[in-house]
Amino acid sequence: MTASSNPIERSFEIAAERCEDLTPLVYRRLHGEHPETITMFRTEGSELVKGSMLALTIDAILDFAGPRTGHFRMIECEISSHDAYGTPRNLFIAFFGVIAGTLRELLGTDWSPEIDLAWRQMLGEIEMMVSQCTT
Ligand code: HEM
Repeated sequence: MTASSNPIERSFEIAAERCEDLTPLVYRRLHGEHPETITMFRTEGSELVKGSMLALTIDAILDFAGPRTGHFRMIECEISSHDAYGTPRNLFIAFFGVIAGTLRELLGTDWSPEIDLAWRQMLGEIEMMVSQCTT
């Protein structure tokens, strides 16, 4: 497999070589940094919802950072459904940073300045998109 030249994709590729499933790591970090999120998910069946929410978010990130074929638009759609779930916008935005922090920890010294810059720029763009959304 050739390594991706897109730094965001590459960060996910390296993480995938080291960890089969990011789900427990991401939610442990989310719940640690934002304990109020623990009770936000339903008590039954939340494992499925959490796994699917993360998988769809990663699809959207890879599309946003890459071809922009359309999956990234899911982010805008989910803003309004999460407004309805009662998820504050700042937490919604924080989820992307939690994913970045999880990858950064897994990558260790492989988290290069290039990867860091690409993530910082993308997190800034996502934050702007979410905070400007009026739906
Ligand atoms: C800390 C931030 C977030 C919290 C607390 C949160 C919370 C939730 C909750 C409570 C549900 C499930 C509702 C239910 O029980 O049916 C859910 C579902 C979902 N969330 Fe989030 N969310 C967050 C961020 C995001 C982000 C950033 C995205 C993507 C851009 C996203 C995408 C989704 C999707 C696609 C589902 C539906 C999953 C499915 O049932 O297949 N969420 N979220």
